[in-house]
Amino acid sequence: MTTLTTTIGGRTFENCMMNAAGVRCQSDEDLTTIINSNAGAYVTKSATPQQRAGNPSPRMKTLPKGCINSMGLPNNGLDYYLNFVIADQQQRPDATNFLSIAGTSLADNLSMLHQIQDSAYEGFVELNLSCPNVPGHPQTGYDFEQVDTTLNQIFDFYTKPLGVKLPPYFDLVHFDQIAEVLNKYPLTFVTTINSIGNALVIDPQTERVAIKPKGGFGGIGGASVKPTALANVRGLALRLNPSIAIVGVGGILSGEDVFEHILCGASMVQIGTQFGYEGVNLFDRLSKELDDIMALKGYHSIEDFRGKLKTFDD
Ligand code: FUM
Repeated sequence: MTTLTTTIGGRTFENCMMNAAGVRCQSDEDLTTIINSNAGAYVTKSATPQQRAGNPSPRMKTLPKGCINSMGLPNNGLDYYLNFVIADQQQRPDATNFLSIAGTSLADNLSMLHQIQDSAYEGFVELNLSCPNVPGHPQTGYDFEQVDTTLNQIFDFYTKPLGVKLPPYFDLVHFDQIAEVLNKYPLTFVTTINSIGNALVIDPQTERVAIKPKGGFGGIGGASVKPTALANVRGLALRLNPSIAIVGVGGILSGEDVFEHILCGASMVQIGTQFGYEGVNLFDRLSKELDDIMALKGYHSIEDFRGKLKTFDD
């Protein structure tokens, strides 16, 4: 018998797979559909203090190996998502879920976290430090000093379970530097990676960019980002305090992809692009595929292989 159960910050999830913030999680209908699925949890669309319409269309384009998007944080505002998660918590007190927030300034993030701290919500908050798509606002996750300042000010008052969603890093020195900052704080988890930001896709026929916002620059998700995602999960797993769980995101299309994220050290995985294409049936398919791999290898739980990736030096 295999189990796909996982634990983060002392909370248990019946399935180690969930959606990634941004895809099919903007409305209460979207979120209720995930609740009624085989996913282990849901994360809400990243909230800003007020409702936002996001960037002009076209703002997403499917590619042969994923997609490019520059949605620009369209969302219904923090009150909407906070009301939803509190109502859900009242109905299902044993279930932990993720409320994502993405202020476009430190002041916005602090004011949203004060509101959450003062509320009845006891679930996880995923602080998105990595949205690449808001014109004029750089990704905080690439400014290590600003990440430090942000977390320092948050943990002055915030006592509920908190994680951060990070952009992909591409240099081992940057893994060292971000881990040194994150290890200073009582984070429950980190989510890695957000899309590979500010890529450019063009159509040679029309000689035009594929999406409208930011002159065509947008974030890449889907199959093509898996090696970068695995490197970030592994790079952070090797450097972060063991008390900080890793939520792996990026390039998951199959149970084998989930298996690889867990081998690199992920305790849970989120699926964005492929969830967008397949909907909640994805969680049934991936669960079966992962289950089959584990059964074949004689693994009973994900702890039997989590973080146990081998290298040629082992
Ligand atoms: O543009 C967006 O709404 C994407 C957000 C993100 O990648 O965090």
